[in-house]
Amino acid sequence: MPRPAKKIAKEKEAQPQKKYKSYARLRGMRDVLFDEYKYWDLVTNKAVDLSRTYGFKRIETPALESLELYEKSTGESSDIVSKEMYSFVDKSGEKIALRPEGTPGLVRAYVEHGMFNLPQPVKMFLIGPFFRHDKPQSGRYRQFSQFNLEMFGEPSPVADAQIILIAYNFFKELQVPVQIQVNSIGCKDDRKSYVSKLLDFYKERGRKSKLCQDCRKRLVKNPLRLLDCKEEKCAAMLADVPQIVDSLCDDCRNHFIKVLEYLDELDIPYNLNPLLVRGLDYYNKTVFEIWPLGEDQARQASLGGGGRYDELVEQMGGRPTPACGFGLGMERTIAKVKETNIPLKNHNEDCIFIAQLGEQSRRKAFLLFEELRRSGIKVRQMFTKDSLKAQLEEANKLGAKFSLILGQKEIIDGTVLIRDMESGIQEVVDYKKIRTELEKRLANGEKREELRNENLEVRS
Ligand code: HAM
Repeated sequence: MPRPAKKIAKEKEAQPQKKYKSYARLRGMRDVLFDEYKYWDLVTNKAVDLSRTYGFKRIETPALESLELYEKSTGESSDIVSKEMYSFVDKSGEKIALRPEGTPGLVRAYVEHGMFNLPQPVKMFLIGPFFRHDKPQSGRYRQFSQFNLEMFGEPSPVADAQIILIAYNFFKELQVPVQIQVNSIGCKDDRKSYVSKLLDFYKERGRKSKLCQDCRKRLVKNPLRLLDCKEEKCAAMLADVPQIVDSLCDDCRNHFIKVLEYLDELDIPYNLNPLLVRGLDYYNKTVFEIWPLGEDQARQASLGGGGRYDELVEQMGGRPTPACGFGLGMERTIAKVKETNIPLKNHNEDCIFIAQLGEQSRRKAFLLFEELRRSGIKVRQMFTKDSLKAQLEEANKLGAKFSLILGQKEIIDGTVLIRDMESGIQEVVDYKKIRTELEKRLANGEKREELRNENLEVRS
């Protein structure tokens, strides 16, 4: 039965009217809230640490670049440029774009800063946000972050293998099980001869007529992209499609064999995937992707991808410079890390909590906090609270080792109460001696921890 209009109007009247409008974040965008930073720190530190270990230096490029940079490198027919780019004309009439991926900006930086004058290879990494106006879904956002790693000036297959090794180590050390998909798409001539075989294949047995709308367009614009169509009827035909590795010239075949030999020697498990071509225009020879282990690629999204792009630097106005690299998705990696039980660092562990009671003691506690902090002791507080119970609860939550309690009595006596948070035992300490007392107790704690670890080692 419809509800009477009068009743609805009355209910509306009863609701308090908001004075101002509130705003929601844009579709496909995420806020990273406090607790999630544990994961961001873990994953970012792993990326930085691994990159530096292998001799890569950190770089950042602007989020805005000229639109043409992406049209000429990522490729006008790629989905990224043709469908997903945030591009616009700025106030001075320039056509610009928010970076949808990292490689073009890094190539521009390499050329613009004359990095060919540096000893080669030039090895760099970047961690930062990217923007694609894609259809949002789980693991696919309109703003996301990537860990990009690129090596310029090294033609040898060692470089390809090392790039894949770093990507593999990144996931392995974060305890994310992955499978590496590898293929070679050869050089321009190899792809030309392969594309003609591919077109013949689709001409035969009326296969062309069974293709989806997008693939029919791809047949004219970018036939290689037919290989990664996820549409059921197109995917079904791929089982019989000719393989690109059979069209490789001697140089490209030997290069690929060497990359695989290195991977074998390094004990990196991989899957030869003849359908892997990647959706960006600049690749040649080795291409690879990292998929979560045991997940069907049609359903899920890859954790990362990369490959070689030996012609791009020259195409972007630089000297001929071979290059290769990868981009790994930070959000997708973090989602996977959350599924594992990897121990996360608690930045507050074993801290000293300072609790206070009353206005006067709060003032003194403020000073004590600064003094201890400056002397390198890990101190925490909650000076906005008056209740001792609430403050000690917070100390417990943080994992504090000791709490220092300053009340009226302690102010008058020139003392501080020191509470062992594990045993609950409280002792009175002279205010002037509190720093040395804490240092002594913390050092004792460390010694005990060392002894415990030694015992554990002996026992194991
Ligand atoms: P890509 O395959 O387009 O390659 O992206 C690399 C990774 O970025 C993906 O595997 C995924 O983890 C993440 N990613 C991409 N789009 C999204 C999205 N909408 N939401 C969340 N994560 C996403 C590149 O970008 C190349 N520049 C990689 C490269 C570097 N090749 C050579 N050097």
